[in-house]
Amino acid sequence: MDKICIGIDMGGTLTKIAYKHNNKIKYKITPSNNLDNLINWINKFDNPTISVSGGKSKKLQEKLSYNIKIIDEFNSTTTGAKYLIEKSNLIAGKNFILTNIGTGTSIYYVDHHSHRFIGGTGVGGGLFIGLSYWLTGETDYQKLIKMSEMGVRSKVDLTVGEIYENSSSPIESSIVASNFGKIEPTHPDNTVAAISGLLSDTVVNISCQAAKRFNVDSIVYIGSILSSNSTLRKSIKKHTELGRENAYFLNKGEFSGALGALIEGEI
Ligand SMILES: Nc1ncnc2c1ncn2[C@@H]1O[C@H](COP(=O)(O)OP(=O)(O)OP(=O)(O)O)[C@@H](O)[C@H]1O
Ligand SMILES: [Mg+2]
Repeated sequence: MDKICIGIDMGGTLTKIAYKHNNKIKYKITPSNNLDNLINWINKFDNPTISVSGGKSKKLQEKLSYNIKIIDEFNSTTTGAKYLIEKSNLIAGKNFILTNIGTGTSIYYVDHHSHRFIGGTGVGGGLFIGLSYWLTGETDYQKLIKMSEMGVRSKVDLTVGEIYENSSSPIESSIVASNFGKIEPTHPDNTVAAISGLLSDTVVNISCQAAKRFNVDSIVYIGSILSSNSTLRKSIKKHTELGRENAYFLNKGEFSGALGALIEGEI
């Protein structure tokens, strides 16, 4: 059997895998709380080379009888994102802000030679599923995505225009003045749409501030919540452009950490 190289990103919620076989990269996702499932899959291969990154890396090392290379999460995430950007010829040669919407959200400033973790927020994918559960009782992720698509966030959020009523407002009247500011019963779909909106508003706001601080005009968003979620991508794009920055999404962006681990592991 050919040599297999495996890059793993064990995040707070999901484990993303990028593995190279016959010079072709393949991808796989599994929940991070099912370590046995991951180990059974790894054990199918004969003496694989494994590089792991992410908050739960050490848990995997403890369970395997041979050595694996542990890669710093900030390195793997930015290396993988740079690889995908180069491959797609997106924002070639530019410095940019990289926003990773994982369970939590982390933000990096990235240039040609280096990267810098510059902050983050606990408002991320974990908040989307957690708050949705607390407010609607729904736990099925795919159902939550459907609910956020069907829902109308303006039934829950209070806009600047609604506060100013008939007088002219000092800023764009459709901007949300108060997330969840309307205190009245509503359909659960609207609640989930408003949670997705809160996530988008918060993440975009701090990403745009970071872009201004570092004098760049490109923000690259990655993270599993963005795949198969065109409503969230549209909202992030619209609000980033309102903040006068450009938003980019990467094909396979959710695998940035796993690809970075694979690349760093081969060096
Ligand atoms: N099948 C799924 N099951 C659960 N959550 C999902 C699923 N697909 C996407 N998500 C969303 O993606 C989020 C996890 O994103 P991601 O995999 O980028 O984070 P992570 O790497 O696990 O976390 P972190 O980087 O913060 O440690 C979840 O919180 C949820 O909102
Ligand atoms: Mg992650």
